[in-house]
Amino acid sequence: MPSITYKAPAKVILSGEHAVVYGKPALIIGLGKYIVVTVCESGDSDPQLLEGSKPVIEAVHNYLQKKYPEKELKLPTITVQNDIPLGRGLGSSAAFAAALSGALLHYYLGEEPSKDTINSLAYIAEKHFHGTPSGADNTTCCYGGLIFFRKEFEFLKTISALHAKLPEIIESKLLLIDTGKPEESTMEMVKQVRIFYNANPLKTDEILNKMEKTTKRLVVSVIKEDVNGFCDSLKKNQSMLEELGVVSPRVSQIIEKLQEFGVGKITGAGGKANGSGFILFYAYDKDKTIRYLNNNIIPFIEFTQDFNGVQYQKSS
Ligand code: PMV
Repeated sequence: MPSITYKAPAKVILSGEHAVVYGKPALIIGLGKYIVVTVCESGDSDPQLLEGSKPVIEAVHNYLQKKYPEKELKLPTITVQNDIPLGRGLGSSAAFAAALSGALLHYYLGEEPSKDTINSLAYIAEKHFHGTPSGADNTTCCYGGLIFFRKEFEFLKTISALHAKLPEIIESKLLLIDTGKPEESTMEMVKQVRIFYNANPLKTDEILNKMEKTTKRLVVSVIKEDVNGFCDSLKKNQSMLEELGVVSPRVSQIIEKLQEFGVGKITGAGGKANGSGFILFYAYDKDKTIRYLNNNIIPFIEFTQDFNGVQYQKSS
């Protein structure tokens, strides 16, 4: 079997992180930053990479053993190239789970697997990485584009691909500003919100309901190319995430300081102690904002959307 390569994009939660764990919708988008996984027969895998790959390998092997009990599953060599910043809310683990699941399934079966199969195995691996993830990250890394996601139950998830792009007038103004890797893991942040919920059930319900409204408003803003609605939703989203306690004081201050340049919200699980991952930022004047960020040595990346999700990379 020749080498098999799969590529999967990162993701950005435009609205609804944390709320999505409680059955509220989230609007997520594929990001044009990628992880590329290659599997081949010969060579040695890096031991650390192999250790980190275990949940994915196990999910793929269990699936194949049930379906094809006779099949011999000799592990190929795994190599990875990655341009997704790690552990900062951009879905690096979900992208890795999607690309590796795709590559392994293709390697063992000799044909392209369906995205649904890749997604269900990536979700199993994500549960090993993060405890009780909603499944929103792996779903977006698998399908790409704009995804409206809602988990009703463990066995029932509504995944609606919005057949729309983020409008150019919005996309061209977006930046992802790096506030640093959170000290807490996604699992810890989800747990902290659970503790907050248990201590303040009425208040949290209120925040989550507001979050749902904001996510829906954001969907409408994207469809109608309504820049003001988009910016207003980002702003509201950020203040709700602050209320939920997933943004560090340092990062709230950064967003406040950046107010003259535009509006932003953290994206992903966040972080309380210091870094809160990336801020999704709409810049009124992008060049001016970039100059400010560079002058103040604040790292950022440009935002580009991905439309394809996980994909087989045919060797040329
Ligand atoms: O920070 P990330 O990329 O792991 O995103 C987590 C999103 C949460 O809503 C906080 C959790 C989830 O499982 O959806």
